Amino acid sequence: MFDGGKIITGLIIFLIIITFPVWYNAVNGQAGERPEIEIATKDTPGKNECVLPADVMRTDHMDLVMQWRDEVVRHDDRTFKTENGREFTKSLTHTCLDCHSNKDAFCDQCHNYVGVDPYCWDCHIVPQDFEKGVK
Ligand code: HEC
Ligand code: HEC
Ligand code: HEC
Repeated sequence: MFDGGKIITGLIIFLIIITFPVWYNAVNGQAGERPEIEIATKDTPGKNECVLPADVMRTDHMDLVMQWRDEVVRHDDRTFKTENGREFTKSLTHTCLDCHSNKDAFCDQCHNYVGVDPYCWDCHIVPQDFEKGVK
């Protein structure tokens, strides 16, 4: 009842499945690539640091903007203090998009990549569009 052929075939299929992510990336090229984002104020003194460390922003910015919204709308609490004592107005348009002035080249690059489309801009103004006369 010992069938070497079947065991080897089974092992080969198992290996193909378990290494799928590796060779899929090698063949496809695109799958693991990070989107290119533009940090507009990277070299601008006073604006070369985000409101929280970049690695925290990368994972938690969606929670931060929701928190800001709640604090502003419910408690009229409009000032955000950073750990190193800087102060910012809690505002999407006037703060986030003041430094990240090119929404297309920043926010949208990542959002398109992961397939999210925040509805915030139905109401909040994108200064870029305003300048172009879209809104
Ligand atoms: C239906 C319209 C509408 C939508 C959609 C909307 N907001 Fe707002 N938001 C408002 C209004 C009105 C205020 C209050 C403005 C004020 O008092 O300064 C506000 C205030 C805020 C504020 C604080 C003030 C400011 O200037 O930014 C933040 C932050 C905010 N919203 C975040 C968001 C986020 C994030 C989203 C998307 C997930 C969103 N909002 C979607 C209407 C909207
Ligand atoms: C004072 C200017 C400034 C403000 C205001 C600002 N940012 Fe940033 N942000 C930066 C800079 C500069 C970096 C890059 C920092 C680094 O790489 O060390 C950055 C990084 C980020 C990143 C990480 C990007 C990456 O490298 O993956 C996200 C996400 C982000 N910001 C979102 C926001 C959001 C959302 C707001 C509003 C709540 C905001 N930023 C407000 C300047 C700013
Ligand atoms: C480095 C990549 C990156 C950048 C840059 C970035 N985001 Fe995001 N953002 C994400 C990811 C990833 C998600 C989705 C997370 C999830 O699916 O829960 C997200 C989700 C959000 C959400 C919640 C959307 C929802 O429907 O749940 C908001 C609001 C948001 N981002 C605002 C912004 C704003 C404003 C900017 C520009 C100032 C920005 N983000 C820049 C990666 C980024």
